[in-house]
Amino acid sequence: MERARAAKHQKVEGAAGVHGNFGWPRGWQSINAGRMSYDYDKLYGETAHALGEPTAVFVDFFDRFETQGARVLDVGCGQGRDALFIARRGHRVVGVDLSPNGIRDLRTAADEEGLAVQGIVADLTSYRPDGDFDVVLIDRTLHMLPRAARLALLKVLLDHVAEGGWLLIADERSNIPDFRDVISAHPRDWRSDLSKGGYHFVQMIRQ
Ligand SMILES: C[S@@+](CC[C@H](N)C(=O)[O-])C[C@H]1O[C@@H](n2cnc3c(N)ncnc32)[C@H](O)[C@@H]1O
Repeated sequence: MERARAAKHQKVEGAAGVHGNFGWPRGWQSINAGRMSYDYDKLYGETAHALGEPTAVFVDFFDRFETQGARVLDVGCGQGRDALFIARRGHRVVGVDLSPNGIRDLRTAADEEGLAVQGIVADLTSYRPDGDFDVVLIDRTLHMLPRAARLALLKVLLDHVAEGGWLLIADERSNIPDFRDVISAHPRDWRSDLSKGGYHFVQMIRQ
């Protein structure tokens, strides 16, 4: 059953055009249909690797990313499908999620492989990152929050991107214009690397 669910998600990620149309992969629409009440902690408690393989656009980004031993913040990391592949590349990852089961799975996997991963159980509406990060990654988590809270969180996160660092967002396509506005209003200058469908990647311009 677990393997079947994981395989379904892998198929969805692979087949639904993450590379092709940069839209919202089809499987995510059903899993997020009742998203405000969706119990990810229960899902993670029942299913290993519930969300399947790492998100392909993030894998592509880290294929191109030349910084060694970067500090990476995975915001709403779940069981750590992204955090773990990033740590395997030698980066130091902090993963934050509301779900104790998700963070437990992240820590267990990281410990087994001796990866530099810190897992934090926290509510993102009140969480304040400790220090700055070369990459802040938010994979389909912002849409889980009410609009005001998601924009407030984005503002906080922008302040924790290190000089020349990156903010990588995957979210509902309809939320991206709001995110652009928040980034434009931020006191630092940002350049867009990828902005297509539900993906918005920006880099802080060095002063
Ligand atoms: C669609 S899942 C994405 C998980 C992970 N980023 C991934 O792609 O595998 C959304 C995640 O947001 C987390 N989440 C939702 N609301 C949260 C909150 N207020 N604080 C922290 N995490 C939250 C959920 O527990 C869940 O793991």
